[in-house]
Amino acid sequence: MGEIGEFLGWLTVFSFGATLANYILKYINKKYSKLINSTLKYKKFNALFMKIFVRHHKFWGIATIITLLLHFYIQSTFREVSTTGLIAGGILLIQMLLGMSGAYIFKKRQGLWFVSHRIISIILILGIIIHLL
Ligand code: HEM
Ligand code: HEM
Repeated sequence: MGEIGEFLGWLTVFSFGATLANYILKYINKKYSKLINSTLKYKKFNALFMKIFVRHHKFWGIATIITLLLHFYIQSTFREVSTTGLIAGGILLIQMLLGMSGAYIFKKRQGLWFVSHRIISIILILGIIIHLL
């Protein structure tokens, strides 16, 4: 069970990375749009990545929470309850609620929800690194 729990932890890290790709891909598109549009191959790859990670950002956010809950259940039942894990997991839950309120209540990419959603992403990167150390 320990190994499944660890695997689920790495799946959480993977899905979390895929939610962050939303920001990274938009940044790449802003900075390197000329290069991307210069070649059909780059354009196609870019469109594919934008579809998977930017258009389906909500899917990756929910996947992160589901793998987190499974990881939490297995680790706390068969190993121990990790304090650093609980802190990172708690922040991740807040992040999901913020993302959902942005998607379904506020709807615009601006304002307090959006700024907090971005800042919490950075806090989460640190929180997860601390949990892994
Ligand atoms: C953002 C949320 C989280 C992520 C990304 C995450 C990720 C991981 C990963 C990748 C590992 C395996 C480390 C290794 O291979 O050595 C791990 C271990 C572990 N996690 Fe989490 N985790 C999270 C939240 C939690 C929560 C909420 C708990 C609470 C029970 C928890 C409890 C543990 C435990 C007990 C271990 C084993 C620690 C050890 O071997 O020393 N994690 N976590
Ligand atoms: C692991 C959790 C999550 C992380 C780390 C995360 C991270 C981010 C980041 C960094 C941005 C900014 C992108 C930009 O600068 O344009 C963003 C935007 C956004 N997020 Fe999340 N997010 C998460 C979960 C969610 C969830 C669960 C939802 C909704 C169900 C959501 C909804 C949104 C929306 C609506 C935007 C603005 C529009 C867009 O860029 O797609 N997020 N998120």
